[in-house]
Amino acid sequence: MGTAVDTAKEVNGSSLSEKKLTVVFVLGGPGSGKGTQCANIVEHFGYTHLSAGDLLRAEIKSGSENGTMIQNMIKEGKIVPSEVTIKLLQRAMQENANDKFLIDGFPRNEENRAAFESVTGIVPEFVLFFDCSEEEMEKRLLGRNQGREDDNIDTIRKRFNVYMESSLPVIQYYDSKGKVRKIDAVKPVEEVFEAVKAVFIPSHEKTA
Ligand code: C5P
Ligand code: MG
Repeated sequence: MGTAVDTAKEVNGSSLSEKKLTVVFVLGGPGSGKGTQCANIVEHFGYTHLSAGDLLRAEIKSGSENGTMIQNMIKEGKIVPSEVTIKLLQRAMQENANDKFLIDGFPRNEENRAAFESVTGIVPEFVLFFDCSEEEMEKRLLGRNQGREDDNIDTIRKRFNVYMESSLPVIQYYDSKGKVRKIDAVKPVEEVFEAVKAVFIPSHEKTA
């Protein structure tokens, strides 16, 4: 009882586990091209794209009781408690009839990873990892002009630190399990997508 994890499981666990979902985690630093490439993958391979960051930003806009907390954490480049993010991801998966999801920007730390696995019981098919230099990511974030409150140099530095300290270890964890498909993400968008396709085509054919 009691814990947030238990509650989430009782409310949401059963219908998700009945569905037999295919989940691919899409990871990489801020500005590594996760969102851009997910849009391409959706178009070619029929996945549904769920961006943890986008779901959190939508939650702020919806006026939810967690909105202010989420907004403050995003401004500081900090990672929102797993309980909140996982509920949003679960809801999004339940509301969608598709059985194949790209989860972008999650898990961001060990807490995200362990809580997602225990709450949903879902183990990712593989992890698509966009490997990009900090120099290139910084250039992209400062140039992209999406009106995001966290795309300023102060927050960007904080996000890079959180990425190095908390997110890279998650990628290393999955690498130790043979689950990471690493992509050189410094290249132009089209070239990156060629490499991405090579990852998806074999697994796509296997499950087709
Ligand atoms: O992935 P994206 O760059 O859109 O994430 C923006 C911010 O959303 C992160 O810097 C972090 O504050 C928050 N976030 C989070 N937990 C996640 C994904 C994003 O707290 N799993
Ligand atoms: Mg994104």
